[in-house]
Amino acid sequence: MYDKWTSLCAYLGRTKLTPYLLYCVSTAVIGSLQFGYNTGVINAPEQKLRTFFSNVSQSRYGEPFQSQTITLVWSFAVAIFSVGGMIGSFSVGAVVNKFGRRKSMLMNNILALLGGGMMGLATLSQSFEMVIIGRFIIGVFCGLCTGLTPMYVGEISPTAVRGAFGTLHQLGVVIGILVAQIFGLEFLLGSDTLWPLLLALTILPAVLQTIMLPFCPESPRYLFIVLKQEEEARKALVRLRGTEDVDDDIQEMKEEGMKMAMEKKVTILELFRSPNYRQPIIIAIILQLSQQLSGINAVFYYSTGIFSNAGVSEPIYATIGAGVVNTVFTVVSLFLVERAGRRTLHLIGLAGMAICALIMTISLSLVQKTTPSLSYLAIVAVFGFVASFEMGPGPIPWFIVAELFSQGPRPAAMAVSGFSNWTANFLVGLGFPRLEEICGPYVFIIFMVLLILFFIFTYLRVPETKGRTFDDIAQGFAARVEKPSHSPVPEAVVVENKEPAPMSPTEK
Ligand code: GLC
Repeated sequence: MYDKWTSLCAYLGRTKLTPYLLYCVSTAVIGSLQFGYNTGVINAPEQKLRTFFSNVSQSRYGEPFQSQTITLVWSFAVAIFSVGGMIGSFSVGAVVNKFGRRKSMLMNNILALLGGGMMGLATLSQSFEMVIIGRFIIGVFCGLCTGLTPMYVGEISPTAVRGAFGTLHQLGVVIGILVAQIFGLEFLLGSDTLWPLLLALTILPAVLQTIMLPFCPESPRYLFIVLKQEEEARKALVRLRGTEDVDDDIQEMKEEGMKMAMEKKVTILELFRSPNYRQPIIIAIILQLSQQLSGINAVFYYSTGIFSNAGVSEPIYATIGAGVVNTVFTVVSLFLVERAGRRTLHLIGLAGMAICALIMTISLSLVQKTTPSLSYLAIVAVFGFVASFEMGPGPIPWFIVAELFSQGPRPAAMAVSGFSNWTANFLVGLGFPRLEEICGPYVFIIFMVLLILFFIFTYLRVPETKGRTFDDIAQGFAARVEKPSHSPVPEAVVVENKEPAPMSPTEK
């Protein structure tokens, strides 16, 4: 561990990391924390919410809802979050193009206040509709967060640490999930009376971010390339990099801006039509699908049930254990991502998950028939599944999209890939309980097969982006398009073997 720490410091030391840059990144990452918190928060108070729905019905209509109606209202309250997420993530492109990155983050917090406020006041107003509408608004808010944070962080980071900083988004997410799991314990905020506060707590980070954001600059890339305000961009860069010498950054943006000026405005349709963008957008979408269809949220939404099926006596603590493993391995990935590279880590993560899915299946299917001690094997397998996820499939898809595209198509690409992620998230969330009913302990075999397919795709098609400038990555794709298709060398290898672009002096 000591070695890893010193080498992280060494490479961070080579890159000038100013306190101001860290302040701006931390401010943006509050958005990731919000996404994680709201993903994890609904799990624990399930029974309290069900009782609340029933009580409201009793006081309004003189009789409680039937249990099927309660389940319906409950599933609706859970699933509507992802529907909001799809809408939010899809709007990201339009919002950032109109308002810029910083103002968009600022305005987005209004949604957190609104949604959090509605959920917090639900019991006082005796309205379960407020929980549902509140969850929907919070979903839109989180959908926007999953586009805004990685985009802003990617755009202000020096090239050499862009991956490590990108992983901070996922670190925010996993810490958010863990905090929600812990706060959701019955003796903390998960009680009969305090659950509305648990749901409304999302307001606090929103207020904090609103106070911190005005001290952050607008993204210099947005100022320079989109608004053409070179002086403003330079000022922002000087503060972020802590040096007057930002000519390399400016030069790089100039080149990117010039190329962009030659392109038409990139719409979502253009992404699929233009041969230059088609490859990266397909890669971005499939990487996002590999994250969600790996089955990770089957664990995060339903782990308590999975653990009790496996015979674990205190499933809630095993769930929190999964949250801790999740956080620890995101930190491990943070250390590795600039050394091992994105592609390698993604491959290792997918392979690890596939193996753990197999072990989970074996332990789940045997535990019911024979040895109860196999429940420990199930816990280890779930922890291994989560740990492998955080090595690559967790953090990488979120930030690699910002890397695969230059300034012009980036907002549209973030919107499309974010939408794919949320849609797959929605499908797993909604479909898993039914699949489990149909397949029983063999349900994770489905994810294993998908994981193997994603592994093959990543191996064949995903280029390495570590240490390369945005422009260089975009050129790599353009070169692939020009390359004759009968080339005997696999294309991914051609791009991967390309030497990283020389680092600018500010990054050394
Ligand atoms: C990723 C996923 C999210 C999941 C989380 C688990 O951020 O996008 O859906 O819940 O990882 O750590």
